Amino acid sequence: MTPTTFRVVPHTTIVFIYKSPTLPADSPRKQLAILLVITNPLPHSPFQISLSSTNFFLHTHRKSRFESPMASASFVKLNASSSPWIGQRSFNQRPGSSSRLPATRVSVVRAGSYSEELVKTAKTIASPGRGILAIDESNATCGKRLASIGLDNTEANRQAYRQLLLTTPGLGQYISGSILFEETLYQSTTDGKKMVDCLREQNIVPGIKVDKGLVPLPGSNNESWCQGLDGLASRSAEYYSQGARFAKWRTVVSVPCGPSALAVKEAAWGLARYAAISQDNGLVPIVEPEILLDGDHPIERTLEVAERVWSEVFYYLAENNVMFEGILLKPSMVTPGADHKEKASPETVAKYTLTMLKRRVPPAVPGIMFLSGGQSEMEATLNLHAMNQSPNPWHVSFSYARALQNSVLKTWQGQPENVEAGQKALLSRAKANSLAQLGKYSADGESEDAKKGMFVKGYTY
Ligand code: 13P
Repeated sequence: MTPTTFRVVPHTTIVFIYKSPTLPADSPRKQLAILLVITNPLPHSPFQISLSSTNFFLHTHRKSRFESPMASASFVKLNASSSPWIGQRSFNQRPGSSSRLPATRVSVVRAGSYSEELVKTAKTIASPGRGILAIDESNATCGKRLASIGLDNTEANRQAYRQLLLTTPGLGQYISGSILFEETLYQSTTDGKKMVDCLREQNIVPGIKVDKGLVPLPGSNNESWCQGLDGLASRSAEYYSQGARFAKWRTVVSVPCGPSALAVKEAAWGLARYAAISQDNGLVPIVEPEILLDGDHPIERTLEVAERVWSEVFYYLAENNVMFEGILLKPSMVTPGADHKEKASPETVAKYTLTMLKRRVPPAVPGIMFLSGGQSEMEATLNLHAMNQSPNPWHVSFSYARALQNSVLKTWQGQPENVEAGQKALLSRAKANSLAQLGKYSADGESEDAKKGMFVKGYTY
C-alpha cells in the first residue's frame, strides 16, 4: 500500500491510535489502545513521517512547547484518558457506524503554544522609553531613499545603509524592535555578522514585513487591498527560525476614496487573518491599517473614518481568535488631510487620536506604535510627546520609518567617512522619540531639516 506522509512541524506532537481491523467495534472485549506519539521538540526543523498501516488513525495534532521531555509525556497521558477513541463510547459503536478518521484528514488544534512567548515579546517591544525603528522598505522603496542621496539601488548600497542603522552603538537604549525587509533578515554585515545578531546584541527584537504589497481592489472606489496570505504560515515559520519575533502587515485606507465598505472590510479581514497566522507561528503581529494623509478633509472626518476602520479590525481580530495581549497596533495619528487649509497643533492631534483609541482599542493590547506617515521628524516627535502627557491604558510609542531615517540619510550621503555622523543622527532622533514616549521631549535646538515635512501623495511602501 502507499504510505501516507505527515509533516511534523517544529514544536508539534502528533498522536495516532491503532484500531484492530479484526475486532468489531461492539466487541465486549476491550480493545487494546496503542498510541503512536511523534513529537518534534526541535525549534526549527520540520521532519516527515510515513505510515504504511491503514489501522493507525490520527488522534490529535497539536502545537506544543517542549521545555523538557516530561512536558510531552504528560501531554500524552492527559489526552489518552480523555480520548473519545479509548473511552467506551467509540468502542461500543454499532458495526457499520464507523467513526474512523481517515489518516489523511489532519485537524489542527490551536493550542496557543506560543501564547506566553507572544505576550513576552509584545511587552519587550512596548517597554518604557523605547519604540520601533522601521526599515522594512521594499527594494523599490529603499531605492527611492538611496536615489535621494544620489546612490544606485544595489544590494551592496542597501546593505551599507542598513548596516549603518543596525550597528549604531547605544541604539538598544531607545529602540526595542526593528522591522526588516526579507533581504535584511537574511543578510550579514560586510564583516560577516548576521544583521539579526547585531539587533539581538542590543536587546532589539528583530521583526519582518510579511505582506506582499498593495494592488488595486476591483469593485471598489479606486482603492487597494493588501496581498500576502498565500503561504504566509510557512513563510512565518521560516522567518521565526531566522530569528524574527514579530511581523508587520501594512494595508491602507483612503479617506478621499470613500472609503468604501468593501475596502474597509477587506483591509480588516486581511489584517485579522494575518494576525491569527502570525500568532500561530510565534510572531507578534503589528496590525497596521494606515489611514493615508492624502486629502483636504478636516480632522473630524479622519476621526470618523479611523473609528470605523478600527471597529471592523477588532471585530475580525476577535472573530479570528487573535489574542489581544500578543499584538501591537500601528495606527496613523488622527490629523486633518495633508491638503486641509488648517494644520492641527500637537495637542489637537493628541486629543483626537487618543479619543479614537480609547473608544476602539481594548486595554488588553500592550502597545500602540504609531507610524509617521509623512509628518516631519519634529512633528511626529511632538505629537507623540503630546499623547504621553497623561497615563494611557497602553504603551504609546513610535514605529517610524521616514521620521527616524530622514536626517540619517542626509548626513550619511553614502560616504564611508560619514557613517559615524549618520549613526549619531539616528541616535539623536531615537532619543528624542524615546523622551516623547516618556512625555519629556523638548523641541529646543531641533534642526531645520527635522522640521521639514516628508509627505508624498499616494505614498507606497
Ligand atoms: P512611516 O513612518 O514612514 O510612515 O513608515 C510606516 C511604516 O509602515 C514603516 O514600517
